[in-house]
Amino acid sequence: MSAPLRIRDLAYFFCGQDRPLFSGVNLAVRAGEVVGIVGLSGSGKTTLCHCMSGIIPLIRGGDMHGEVLLGETSTRDLTPPRVATRLGIVFQNPDTQLFFPRVEDEVAFGPENLCVPVEEIDRRVSRALHTVGLQEFRERNPHRLSGGEKQLVALASVLSLQPEILIFDEALSQLDAEGRKRILALIEQMRDQGKAVVMVEHNPDNLGVADRTMLLHDGELTRFDGEWHRFAAL
Ligand SMILES: Nc1ncnc2c1ncn2[C@@H]1O[C@H](COP(=O)(O)OP(=O)(O)OP(=O)(O)O)[C@@H](O)[C@H]1O
Ligand SMILES: [Mg+2]
Repeated sequence: MSAPLRIRDLAYFFCGQDRPLFSGVNLAVRAGEVVGIVGLSGSGKTTLCHCMSGIIPLIRGGDMHGEVLLGETSTRDLTPPRVATRLGIVFQNPDTQLFFPRVEDEVAFGPENLCVPVEEIDRRVSRALHTVGLQEFRERNPHRLSGGEKQLVALASVLSLQPEILIFDEALSQLDAEGRKRILALIEQMRDQGKAVVMVEHNPDNLGVADRTMLLHDGELTRFDGEWHRFAAL
């Protein structure tokens, strides 16, 4: 099975620090696989997501050693828009990802930026909104939607770029039970469509969908054995 996302011997140092936040990180996420990542607050999960998504080193500084490969290409050899066609990331707070006064403009923004032809953009917007169940929301203002609906718009705006890799960085944490259920069902759907999915989570209840789970602790990423009481005791 192919691995659209591979991390090879990754280490990251914040500017001016001589101790890495993490090191020796290796991971391959296969097509059609959901990998969960857990870890205490401050263990470096979001920073690892930034490395996976090219934000580090393409946008943010610090010192990254090792390699993140999207397909066969290192993120170092891609531009941020090119990364976005392969990998989409959804963050904890959808307000940080929504900029436009209309849902359809939000979802069209990514493909517009890549100069995708207008008719194709329209098809992609319709498809992405249909996937997340917001086809009736095209004209609505994203900022006036519920937290769960906003997160669905953020997901649709990532899906319109048709990435093969999706990363959710605690994307469920601000949602009510109904919102969580909808996103979890969509994650299963993405997996069944053959996407490679990474889910960073605090809440073990949300990781039933994961095929395996990794623990980021003390700068190391290791297989998590599923014994949540041990995690809680860390
Ligand atoms: N510019 C910086 N320089 C030094 N340390 C930093 C910098 N930015 C963040 N940190 C620290 O890096 C650590 C990892 O942060 P990160 O946000 O990746 O953790 P996290 O596991 O995602 O936490 P949470 O579960 O709270 O989201 C934290 O201890 C944070 O304080
Ligand atoms: Mg975080």
